[in-house]
Amino acid sequence: MSDKKIALVTGANKGIGYEIAAGLCALGWSVGVGAREQTRRDAAVARLRDAGVDAFGVPLDVTDDRSVAAAADLIAERAGRLDALVNNAGITGGGPQQPSSVDPAVIRTVVETNVIGVIRVTNAMLPLLGRSASPRIVNMSSSVGSLARQSGPGGETSTGPVAVAYAPSKSFLNAVTLQYVRELADTNILINCACPGYVATDLNGFRGVRTPREGAATAIRLATLPDGGPTGGFFEDAGVVPW
Ligand SMILES: NC(=O)c1ccc[n+]([C@@H]2O[C@H](COP(=O)([O-])OP(=O)(O)OC[C@H]3O[C@@H](n4cnc5c(N)ncnc54)[C@H](OP(=O)(O)O)[C@@H]3O)[C@@H](O)[C@H]2O)c1
Repeated sequence: MSDKKIALVTGANKGIGYEIAAGLCALGWSVGVGAREQTRRDAAVARLRDAGVDAFGVPLDVTDDRSVAAAADLIAERAGRLDALVNNAGITGGGPQQPSSVDPAVIRTVVETNVIGVIRVTNAMLPLLGRSASPRIVNMSSSVGSLARQSGPGGETSTGPVAVAYAPSKSFLNAVTLQYVRELADTNILINCACPGYVATDLNGFRGVRTPREGAATAIRLATLPDGGPTGGFFEDAGVVPW
């Protein structure tokens, strides 16, 4: 088995996920670029490899059981274990998302990707994470999923527009993360949520104010935590995000 650390980043063909993959590669990790579409996946892997790093493509649609199972098989064959899983893939479901007029199908679609997708991928990868000496799981959340910020003073301005599918999907993801933390408390897996800040990507029509590389920093830090590092936390660059 290789001494090189192995990571899987979902939704790594572009945006923040690509930069998480690039950052881990730059640290000497071997990184699986999880992406659902072959052309975009191949292009991302080629771009990473052009920098001389160890990246490999992992066909992965987080909403598809068979795709996720095949991704786990691919990593098992290639590395026999997984040291860090970064559940980054996510969608907003488009807008507007006023609670009084939303199409319930939009909520189902967003939850299927942002929450159930994370559960599906995590459960498929847990056996591989169990073979790592220092396993880490990072769930890419958002401060818009912080109930404390949504309900606190200024919540109407600091947590973006009303979005009854996207924002609660990240609150749901946070809650799910804490259930994993409780179940896996007796293991050495460190499990945390990250918020990247407001990043200019396809997700928001490039209206964000941070670069994808800046947005990747917290997730990279959490994927590479030393033993004894925090678990069950929600972090952004500035520190802790209240749940
Ligand atoms: N941008 C921000 O300001 C911001 C703020 C807070 C949190 N976030 C979170 O950060 C994460 C990355 O977002 P981003 O801004 O980098 O967005 P992005 O540029 O739109 O990238 C999203 C990635 O997720 C992938 N994806 C979507 N559905 C998928 C599926 N079913 N299976 C596999 N991959 C799938 C996309 O693949 P395709 O190219 O195939 O669509 C893409 O690679 C998301 O979880 C998002 O909620 C972003």
